Amino acid sequence: MRLERPSRTKGRAAGAREEEKSTPPARKKILIDRVIQEIEHLPTLPHVVMRVLSMAESPKISALELSKTMDQSLAAKVLKMANSAYYGGRDRKINSILHAIVMVGFEAVKEIILTTSLFHTFHDARDVQALQPLWQHSMECALIAKRLAWIYRYDSLDEAYLSGLTHDIGRLVIEQYFSDQYWEIEEKREAGMDLLEAEKEVLEITHAEIGGKISERWGFPANLVDSIAHHHDQGWTVNPVLGKILYYADQFTLGQITFSGMLEAFSKEGMNYPATWDSSDLESVEQILQEEMAKAQSMFTLATDKSPNTNSPPSS
Ligand SMILES: [Fe+2]
Ligand SMILES: [Fe+2]
Repeated sequence: MRLERPSRTKGRAAGAREEEKSTPPARKKILIDRVIQEIEHLPTLPHVVMRVLSMAESPKISALELSKTMDQSLAAKVLKMANSAYYGGRDRKINSILHAIVMVGFEAVKEIILTTSLFHTFHDARDVQALQPLWQHSMECALIAKRLAWIYRYDSLDEAYLSGLTHDIGRLVIEQYFSDQYWEIEEKREAGMDLLEAEKEVLEITHAEIGGKISERWGFPANLVDSIAHHHDQGWTVNPVLGKILYYADQFTLGQITFSGMLEAFSKEGMNYPATWDSSDLESVEQILQEEMAKAQSMFTLATDKSPNTNSPPSS
C-alpha cells in the first residue's frame, strides 16, 4: 500500500530548521520529542467509540445510549451513511439511530459509528483523498479482523474491527506531521529497506509504536493498545488472540498471505475454525472475506463524502 508523492512542495513544520542544524543523534531526539508532542495534540475520539466497545448486547437500550453519546453532527453523518444506497437506502428514510438499527442491523450500525467517528476526528486532516490507500487498507483490515474474530470466536467483534481501523494510524501521523521524514522513509523502502527498519533509521520510532501511544491516549483498552503497538513484530503480551487476529488480517489485506495459508498459520498457533466446517463452508468464508475487501472501497467513499446532509436532525 503506497501513497502518491504530492507534486507540490510539502510545507515544513515548525522546528524543521532546528533539526537541519543539529547533529544526527540530536536531530533524532528532537524528532522523537516532536512526535510525542504531536500525539498529545491530536484530537480525541468521540466518546461514542468507547461506548460501542463497552456496551451490553441489547440493541434497543443501546440505541438510546448511543444516540445520547453522539453530537448532532456526528449522528447526522452516521444517518447519512445508513441512508446511502450502499446500505439499501433508496426507498426509505432513516431518521434515527434506533430506526437505523432496525433497518440495517446492529452490527452494521456499530461499524458505521466506529468508521464515521474516526473520519469525523480527522475531518480537518489535509489530503484525505491523497491518503485513500492508507484509509482503504485500514478499512479492509477492520472488516477482515472482524470476520476473523467471528471465525475464531473472539469476545468482541467491535474491538477487532477498531483494531483494524486504527492499526496504521501512526503512518497517518507520520505523513501528516512529518512529511519530509515520511518521504525519506518511502525512498528507503523503494531502495529495498524494510518499512519498520526505515522508520527506525529516520525517526527512531515505528508507526506501530506511534499507533500504540495514540491508542493509549485515546483510552483504548490495554489489549487493543498492545495489539496495535505490536502489529508487525508479533510481540503481544496482553491478549495474543486479538494480536494474532489483527496481525493476520493485516497480512491478508496486504496480500502477504493466502486464505488457506492464514488458516494454517492460525491452526499452528492453536486456533481452529469450527470443526463442523467442510470444504464448501471454507469456500463460502473465503468468498465472504473477498466481498468484505470490496466493501472497503465503498465505505471510504461514503465516509469521506462532504456533500450536504439531507437528513432531518436525528431523534433517538
Ligand atoms: Fe502497519
Ligand atoms: Fe497495515
